[in-house]
Amino acid sequence: LSLQPTIFIIFGGTGDLNSRKLAPALYNLYLDGFLPQQFTIIGTGRTKLTDEVFSEKLLEGINQFSRRGKADEAKWAEFSKHVAYQVSDINDFETYKEFGRRIDHYSKEWNAKPNVIYYLAVSPNFFPVIAENISKAKLGTDTERTRIVIEKPFGHDLESSKKLNALLGKIFDEKQIYRIDHYLGKETVQNIMAFRFANSILEPLWNRNYIQHVQISVTEQLGVGERGDYYDGAGALRDMIQNHLLQLLCLVAMESPVSFSADEVRNRKVDVLKAMRRFTPDDVRLSAVRGQYAKGWIEGKEVPGYREEGKVNPQSNTETFAAMKFFIDNWRWHGVPFYLRTGKRMHQSSSVIMIQFKDVPHYIFPTETAESWQQNRLIISIQPEMSIRLQVQAKRPGLNMVLNTVDMVFDYKGTYTNDAPEAYETLLLDTMLGDQTLFMRGDQVEAAWDLLMPVLNTWQSKTSLSFPNYSADSWGPEAAEALIARDGFHWFSLP
Ligand code: BG6
Repeated sequence: LSLQPTIFIIFGGTGDLNSRKLAPALYNLYLDGFLPQQFTIIGTGRTKLTDEVFSEKLLEGINQFSRRGKADEAKWAEFSKHVAYQVSDINDFETYKEFGRRIDHYSKEWNAKPNVIYYLAVSPNFFPVIAENISKAKLGTDTERTRIVIEKPFGHDLESSKKLNALLGKIFDEKQIYRIDHYLGKETVQNIMAFRFANSILEPLWNRNYIQHVQISVTEQLGVGERGDYYDGAGALRDMIQNHLLQLLCLVAMESPVSFSADEVRNRKVDVLKAMRRFTPDDVRLSAVRGQYAKGWIEGKEVPGYREEGKVNPQSNTETFAAMKFFIDNWRWHGVPFYLRTGKRMHQSSSVIMIQFKDVPHYIFPTETAESWQQNRLIISIQPEMSIRLQVQAKRPGLNMVLNTVDMVFDYKGTYTNDAPEAYETLLLDTMLGDQTLFMRGDQVEAAWDLLMPVLNTWQSKTSLSFPNYSADSWGPEAAEALIARDGFHWFSLP
């Protein structure tokens, strides 16, 4: 790999994202030899800290959150030589002049023009002021070498996302903007494209002629935790469906790109979003369900209801669960429903895609011998289990013709001995390499918002809800089961 000398400037350096995700990912990249010889990580934030105290903080994060556990002392000592801290006021132009001085300093020391990656691990309220100051200080003018990384939410709705894109677009080229959807960095999610487009046997089946319906389910046992202030203004639709679940849907539904290059892949994904049927207000009533968790028990521990969580309005109508049914109006998917659901404080933490194939056209066996009418399913399990199973019917050994469902399994644990890297390791490496394939392009973000606006608007206008409407440790509100049961199906979950 050709890795250029690199400076990471991490805004929100003392924050949660850095200590949980970014620092462990950078450290693991270092251990695996995926950082260039010449690199510096400059954390920046309001708190006054020395370089040493800052790097101690990063070490704590790594020890607690790295997939490899506690850092090795000698390796850490080497790594931490590359860590620095700059106290900053992001509203103050002086801050950016100081970044400029530091960049010059390293350019001289390394005798090379470094890549500079501005990572905005801060609330989106600060994106505009940071971007504008970077521009004013002329720190983003080298379109080959400077990049800006931002985390969702990319706006709150279609209008605000357009505004954000327009603002960033004035300052940076699209090729400099790295919008993170961390689901795209997950190993099992990256594998969806490999599975679909590096195998010839699936494509003939991958359409309305053979597929009856698709389910995408991302459920979490965790509640909203410490993030009440952000989440209460967002909700499950904005927090999960707009980005992660729709991206999974795009990966399942997209046409084959002509090559595995960033824009070809993203063009095919955005085609899917554009082909998705827009909801009328009536459709919202019929095809979208929202819920909010009540208090309850999870694994023997009592947990509060959503309205009792910290920094949440006690009368909040924010949804912590959403389920919806979509159609994609194109030749491949005409008439095939895609059911999506996500929720917090659910019975299981699991992300699964289930593709249900149609039944055989004529069943020759006595029906009482069949264990299940679900004859063929493809189950792509993203986490925590990492596997792909194809469910088929087989004759159970014995003197009678009794059939049952068996799994043909590709299981990561049984197949590979090496650990999968964390999503952030992949995404940070790709940022250094300048590969945007796994990042959201501005038009994708807008297309996803555009699709969901009728739901957001309808939900916002109807506020007489009987929330909470599902208990912790359940599979969500009854209406979600009814949504799919009306079509004769049930939500799928792994045992
Ligand atoms: C984030 C959401 O984007 O994804 C969180 O803001 C959610 O609310 C998280 O918990 C889930 O990610 P993962 O990787 O734990 O499935």
